[in-house]
Amino acid sequence: MRKKFNIYVLFSFLLIISNNLVYSQNNIKVPNLTKNGNVTQLHVNDKPFLILAGELGNSSASDINYLATRWKKIKEIGLNTLLIPVYWELIEPEEGKFDYSLIDSIIFNARKYNLKLIFLWFGSWKNSMSCYVPSWIKTDQNRFPRAKNKEGKSMEMLSVFSNENRAIDAKAFANLMNHIRKIDSNENTIIMVQVENEIGMIPDAREYSDEANKKYSENVPNELINYLDKNKQLLSPELYNLWKDNGFKKSGSWEEIFGQNVYTEEIFMAWYYAKYVDFVTKAGKKEYPLPMYVNAALNRPNYSPGQYPSGGPLPHLFNIWKAGAPSIDFLSPDIYFDNFSDWCKKYDQRNNPLFIPEATLDENTHIKALFAIGEYKAMGFSPFSIESLNDHLNSKLTKVYNLLYQLVPIILRGQQNNMIRGFLLDEENKSINFQLGEYKFTISHDYTFPWSKKAPGKWPQVGGMVISISPDEFFVIGEGIILTFESLHPKEINAGILYIEEGHFINNKWIPGRRLNGDESHQGRHLRIPHNECQIQRVKLYRYH
Ligand code: DGJ
Repeated sequence: MRKKFNIYVLFSFLLIISNNLVYSQNNIKVPNLTKNGNVTQLHVNDKPFLILAGELGNSSASDINYLATRWKKIKEIGLNTLLIPVYWELIEPEEGKFDYSLIDSIIFNARKYNLKLIFLWFGSWKNSMSCYVPSWIKTDQNRFPRAKNKEGKSMEMLSVFSNENRAIDAKAFANLMNHIRKIDSNENTIIMVQVENEIGMIPDAREYSDEANKKYSENVPNELINYLDKNKQLLSPELYNLWKDNGFKKSGSWEEIFGQNVYTEEIFMAWYYAKYVDFVTKAGKKEYPLPMYVNAALNRPNYSPGQYPSGGPLPHLFNIWKAGAPSIDFLSPDIYFDNFSDWCKKYDQRNNPLFIPEATLDENTHIKALFAIGEYKAMGFSPFSIESLNDHLNSKLTKVYNLLYQLVPIILRGQQNNMIRGFLLDEENKSINFQLGEYKFTISHDYTFPWSKKAPGKWPQVGGMVISISPDEFFVIGEGIILTFESLHPKEINAGILYIEEGHFINNKWIPGRRLNGDESHQGRHLRIPHNECQIQRVKLYRYH
């Protein structure tokens, strides 16, 4: 182990020197977010990049040897990007003394396996708690104050109201970003950074330390009121109504402005979390300005703040987060709930491109990836605990990542031109329709077809995406779907199928396989990808009067 570390130390030393030499000559661009037509996309090496990712389990990146046995599997699943924690306690075991041997070995391996990385900064908070802060912080409560609950009891959480906490986190984060710049600005292996992880206060809706109580009784900062006033028409309905019900006041305490209730406490926390995160993010971006985002633990219906992590980057608090943390590029949902589509919609807001850093790893994950990228033009998708995928060589996720990989340039173009749609169907939502180019598409669940092979019980979730590559030509990718077509042309009112091919891409060139007709297209009536078969099909339509 020690020996391995030494090799990595030497390796990073050489990397830093060579990187700095070449960096100054090549002027390689830092990965960034760029608006292309309709959509914001991540650019890496000046080209749009679709993130086909997975996130490692929380402890999997803490040991080189453990990780060594997982890289091959991760690559075989077809990821192009790995989301991987950076643990504050391991990189700064003593105050001001940083150890990047683990990080450097991870970067080294990512390059070896041709993977990009998104670093997750497990800093002040990880799922509300401060379990990843170094022990010299945990054991010095006077210098690094804790959050207190309603009963005045200290918790294993750093207080958001301490400038010392904020400063020490920002210092460590800046040091990390400085290291990344030195080691990676020539390679762009690290393409984004998540700042903290699932921030939010539990089990109370707000902190109750003396400093927190003092701040809660103060007036709402003008900075926030001015932002809300300027963006009044764009406020979330929840925030708008709280402000409205209390008379749209422009000055006053938190409770005078938003009312005496638990949602006001949540707004208060969201503001101070956002300001803290903004401070840390700014310090990091000053060293190396990679795109940076925060992720949210979502709230269940009818739960109140505190029952879920209060004040996190949730849709009803978007305006507070955007106002308080302008250096954060976007807010992201960790989607573990069944109403996947609702959450995509809530996060795909003006100025907030969708990226899903965590989602459940189960038998439907592949369908959700297709749907989010197709329907919500997501920048990327990343199921959680990817290294635990069972029977990965035969899994549907592996199959779909492989198909997506083949179609990346076409998908990115489809997102830019608004020529892509996604769909997610089940027993309750058996079919949907939409217009794409001059055709109306109806997409139905495979089980609506009388001859489909049906498993007993509840209908499985199915879905996919369709991309238009010319007025009459489309690629369809998915599982368990049936597509029918209608013409929207005023004179040629009928739509027919000219041909359907299954196939695949090699080096961006379409290699057709079987020509699908007869039973496979219901004698020219539809395009079908049966359940349990993930496929790409290319269809050419035509119109007649
Ligand atoms: C969400 C967190 O962000 C992850 O780090 C992990 O704890 C998962 N929950 C576990 O389901």
